[in-house]
Amino acid sequence: MSETRDRVRIAVQKSGRLAQDSLALLRRAGLVFRESRDKLFLYGESLPIDVLLVRDDDIPGLLVEGSCELGIVGRNVLDEQRAASTGIDFPLEHRALGFGHCRLALAVPDGGALARPADLAGLRIATSYPQLTAGWLRAHDIVAEVVLLNGSVEIAPRLGKADAICDLVSSGATLAANQLHELTTVLRSEAVLVRAARTHAAAITSQIERLCARIDAALAGNGVRLLMLQAPRSALAALERLLPAREPASVLGLDGRPDDVALQALCGADLDWQHLEELKRLGARGLMVLNVERMLA
Ligand code: PRP
Ligand code: ZN
Repeated sequence: MSETRDRVRIAVQKSGRLAQDSLALLRRAGLVFRESRDKLFLYGESLPIDVLLVRDDDIPGLLVEGSCELGIVGRNVLDEQRAASTGIDFPLEHRALGFGHCRLALAVPDGGALARPADLAGLRIATSYPQLTAGWLRAHDIVAEVVLLNGSVEIAPRLGKADAICDLVSSGATLAANQLHELTTVLRSEAVLVRAARTHAAAITSQIERLCARIDAALAGNGVRLLMLQAPRSALAALERLLPAREPASVLGLDGRPDDVALQALCGADLDWQHLEELKRLGARGLMVLNVERMLA
């Protein structure tokens, strides 16, 4: 249990839509791992933080029971299990992570009579997300039967087990392959970083805070670029007007060149080739654009 451990554990999906991106994010946060022989445990060599590779559905429970302090899980799994839980010690969402985007959607057979969500009244809806599905139906005053299936939900209509489904959609390929189409979105989901709700010993808490701060820093760099250039001081105002900068640029003097300046500006993903060409026309030289890997405020 967490009380007797002096290392932090983070639970991550073993295989599936979040697995690779989750580990890539932890590596960006500076974690270096050694794999156990059974490949279910990654020992952290750079920090006292280990990774448990598990089924995504098991992640909230591992945090509730104290086997792990942190987890990366889809909001779909988190919200479904929160709705079914007592709420006591349920994991807290630290932040969304910007990958693993998908949606939980109601879908119906192609070419059928079902055109609007209200048409589902009195019908059977197959899903692995009974809480979220029932919650959405309640919120929309639709009375329908929720049929719980733990896999292959998309074939339920063809088997005659249900009239519609409520399942995860990402590319839409699974729905298309099964002659189904979406009626409406029930939940938008992406990977989220969760923390156990219970309190821990100070040493554990400080490692949790440390990893969360590093993940925040790594994600703060997403899509941010550093633009560097030199230019005549006289062109500075015009250059700055043109920049899609996130904050005022840093302007530095250059030794022995009183008429020139060096400029550094943090820009968003909207900094494009056209900006660079226009900056050059205004007299900028030595332009450089660097992707930002991490940002600490
Ligand atoms: C979901 C869902 C579909 C598929 C949809 O399963 O049940 O099978 O993804 O994705 P697509 O729109 O890109 O075809 P998932 O892979 O998450 O597996 P799981 O439900 O067993 O966790
Ligand atoms: Zn799953």
